Amino acid sequence: MSQQPRSSSTASNDNWRAGLRPPPRDDRPQTEDVKATKGIEFEDMFLRRELLMGIFEAGFDKPSPIQEESIPMALTKRDILARAKNGTGKTAAFVIPSLQQVDVTKNKIQALVLVPTRELALQTSQVCKNLGKHMGIQVMVTTGGTTLKDDILRLSETVHVLVGTPGRILDLAGKSVADLSECPIFVMDEADKLLSPEFAPVMEQLLTYLPKDRQVMLFSATFPIIVKDFKDKHMNSPFEINLMDELTLRGVTQYYAFVEERQKVHCLNTLFSKLQINQSIIFCNSTNRVELLAKKVTELGYSCFYSHAKMLQSHRNRVFHDFRNGVCRNLVCSDLLTRGIDIQAVNVVINFDLPKNSETYLHRIGRSGRFGHLGLAINLVTYEDRFNLYKIEQELGTEIQPIPHIIDKGLYVAPGAVDEPAGQKPAPQQTQQQQLAQPQQPAPARQQQQQPRGPPPSQQQLQQQQTVYQTNGQPAPRQNGGAGQGAARGYPGAGPAGGRPQAPPVAQR
Ligand SMILES: Nc1ncnc2c1ncn2[C@@H]1O[C@H](COP(=O)(O)OP(=O)(O)OP(=O)(O)O)[C@@H](O)[C@H]1O
Ligand SMILES: [Mg+2]
Repeated sequence: MSQQPRSSSTASNDNWRAGLRPPPRDDRPQTEDVKATKGIEFEDMFLRRELLMGIFEAGFDKPSPIQEESIPMALTKRDILARAKNGTGKTAAFVIPSLQQVDVTKNKIQALVLVPTRELALQTSQVCKNLGKHMGIQVMVTTGGTTLKDDILRLSETVHVLVGTPGRILDLAGKSVADLSECPIFVMDEADKLLSPEFAPVMEQLLTYLPKDRQVMLFSATFPIIVKDFKDKHMNSPFEINLMDELTLRGVTQYYAFVEERQKVHCLNTLFSKLQINQSIIFCNSTNRVELLAKKVTELGYSCFYSHAKMLQSHRNRVFHDFRNGVCRNLVCSDLLTRGIDIQAVNVVINFDLPKNSETYLHRIGRSGRFGHLGLAINLVTYEDRFNLYKIEQELGTEIQPIPHIIDKGLYVAPGAVDEPAGQKPAPQQTQQQQLAQPQQPAPARQQQQQPRGPPPSQQQLQQQQTVYQTNGQPAPRQNGGAGQGAARGYPGAGPAGGRPQAPPVAQR
């Protein structure tokens, strides 16, 4: 590991921490998913001071369990295969050791980070930039859906860390524009997705452009059996970390509402009126259904964006950016945003359509309850879904309970916001901005993991449990109204409500 010149005058000051500007402290309670640490400090990891400065300025006081396990081992250059729950800090677990190993005096790509989606690439590159901001490290993000020419120009300048989606990076490597011949670090985030048939051949080809003695690091919350082949073929006695003795997050409470297909929109309307949603992500199983639902939600008068893979990349980027910045309360999307996306203000995930497999389910509900905080996952389940619901519960070893008439706000709302009336409020732009700008303070986390339950309930049982969320053909009375027609816009078309970004709902690290 080469020693770097110090890039900041603050670095030579013994009192270097005093000069840092971390975000306001997030004092929300956290679950054991991130608190069950051994007590190692970032300062104990022999990291460069400039890197420590970036870490503390991102608001990271102490490493999470996956960071404690992975960073010291990754610094020995050993291959890593790591599995940890959603939202527990896997990104920094591979970004920190990667940045530490970069020699900024060398004009070469020294770490390649692959992710399955463009939005995740943007987010991950931002983490690299934030954590490495005092190091003088040059980070480049490259994805499909943008012009190759811009990438070629950018690569003629210095790039130390390259983050991107596999297809575009293979393109650049194949054209000898991206020189990976001296890149010693190869990271695959959401590795199981990158090893699915859709991406696996590209990954194989990409590896041929790297040196033989590279360090390979694989991270995900889900590692199905397909990963084994890759491990045997391309990894050198990897250090295996598995922090998932249980799979679901302790802070996320899961419910299902039994509905008929035609009742789903009405049920969603009822949920909007009853729940105290800070921000929500609503998943559908097809792009067509995303657009149809977003239209319905907008017609109901709620503020809503949508995103899916068939949209223009520039629109996708704008939705992602604006939703992250709290411009809009609800986002309807496809599985494009199922993995890795980190928006701390999301406290409710709704599966408008139940996903087909348990991995997708786990990643989707993991969009709430980030970094050990509280969240709610609600599944709209039809009679046809009942066996799939049961299968998901069995495979994940979790319990998805029938939705109660009243959901305890303490399960998903910050203590400071619990007294606010439920339901989404009419949203003059200013009101929404002020409200979203308040950091949320969830109640103490639920620590008990529930036990798997018996076989799927009968239709009669389901119907008895679900009366309140079913339609009678009439719209549900709204407790607090929607966002107001003026503020409720789908996307693209009229553009986001109010049209201008607002302060993040909580400090986005
Ligand atoms: N040590 C830390 N202290 C405080 N916050 C942290 C720390 N590490 C990560 N975080 C924050 O936790 C959130 C979740 O991190 P991250 O996105 O890396 O999770 P993940 O494990 O990759 O989740 P997923 O499986 O969904 O991809 C981010 O907002 C990140 O800034
Ligand atoms: Mg991640």
